[in-house]
Amino acid sequence: MGDQNTDNSAAASGKRRHATLFSNRFAFILAAAASAIGLGNLWRFPSLAAKYGGGAFLLVYLILVVTFGFTLMLAELAIGRKTGKSAIDAFRSFGKRYAIIGVLTALVPVIITPYYCVIGGWISKYLVVYLTGGGAGTADGGGFFSGFIASSGEPVLWTALFIVLVMLVVGIGLEKGIEKLNSIVMPVLLLFVIGISIYALTIPGALDGLAYYLIPRLEDFSIATVVAAMGQLFFSLSLAMGIMITYGSYTSKETNLEKSVRQIEIGDTALALLCGLMIIPAVFAFSGAEGAQQAGPGLLFITMPQVFATLPFSTALGAVFFFAVFFAALTSAISLAEAIVSFVMDRLGFSRRKAALMVFVGVLLLAIPPTLGFSDWGNATLTIGSADMTILDIMDFLSNSILMPLVALLVCLFVGYWVGPAFVKDEVEATGGVHFKAMTLFRVMIRYIAPAFLLIILISSVLNATGIIAL
Ligand code: ALA
Repeated sequence: MGDQNTDNSAAASGKRRHATLFSNRFAFILAAAASAIGLGNLWRFPSLAAKYGGGAFLLVYLILVVTFGFTLMLAELAIGRKTGKSAIDAFRSFGKRYAIIGVLTALVPVIITPYYCVIGGWISKYLVVYLTGGGAGTADGGGFFSGFIASSGEPVLWTALFIVLVMLVVGIGLEKGIEKLNSIVMPVLLLFVIGISIYALTIPGALDGLAYYLIPRLEDFSIATVVAAMGQLFFSLSLAMGIMITYGSYTSKETNLEKSVRQIEIGDTALALLCGLMIIPAVFAFSGAEGAQQAGPGLLFITMPQVFATLPFSTALGAVFFFAVFFAALTSAISLAEAIVSFVMDRLGFSRRKAALMVFVGVLLLAIPPTLGFSDWGNATLTIGSADMTILDIMDFLSNSILMPLVALLVCLFVGYWVGPAFVKDEVEATGGVHFKAMTLFRVMIRYIAPAFLLIILISSVLNATGIIAL
């Protein structure tokens, strides 16, 4: 508390190095929503909701979104906008001793982007297979998928192609690259997801799945539900990844941050709910509750093709589905890569193109181990507790279970105690005529509730992963 607000002037006087800003508030909200809506919505949310008590999970998730999600997203955006800088320099602007928070934050997209692009590569492969009429061949209960990821060259090639696409858009820049792509892709994604959800609900047996998904069964409620919902919240809202700090730095003072955060949350959560509607009832009708709880690659790459194969228009359906997954993964991967490019530009003073080229090479190299972790380097597993982790699992564990809760905890301490929550109030109210309505909620969350919960989450996810407790 000692230095509350004292360093704010230093941060405020720091030069804004990014010449570029989002064109307008809508472009910013769309970009933040496009970042948020990704594999987290399509892949993690449905299976977690199915596993942790359907309606009970949804209820907990919604409460966490409007409290934790709101608090942390607003804090990150405010840090970015106040300083006009990406993670490392943003924290540094408040004093050298805070730079370590920026470094830890910057590490998160460095770890996530490569493996996210590996999955992006798999999705690209499936999309092309469906578009070229070979979708039926993927519905063989896992043989196609295992064969594909266990091959040496092909997954690397698809991953590389996906990375090229991501870095091209990032290299082109904010307005002509990211904004333009989002304005085309996001409405299409929404249409596709709504279309498949409606279709999925007409499948015989799907309504039982819908009830399973939406009706809370209180006996399913547990501490594990809260821990899972919290982990999902961070991943899905792109928190503790440096993205929202970077996007905050591209946002003008005219943007009402409080209102924007509410709109981004609504967009991401609505899409997550829709993705659940698209996937859970269909999978439930096909393979019951157990199938619907399946997490990870199995759900997208093994079960969904099997579900499509039982339905009319299966090839077209699969193609539309994988288009939706591809768009969601692409726009999120772009935001992850943008966070890295942004701090490379800030730290090294590189132009966007040069930074994008450097990040391209780096992400490509870092993506090779998780890709080959399913083939040539398949023996490079780490056994933690009872789980055998592949290289991709290890990267996911390091980022999602260790670094992200740690970074979020540090952000809470930074804003709640070291800089003081008034800094966020000032930043929100820097927009003319705006009054920060949720200041009391924000203050209580950032100082007391969020840090306490984050500490519990951090400890329990480590104990869970090491097999000491089972969540
Ligand atoms: N927020 C992104 C997602 O949900 C990273 O996939």
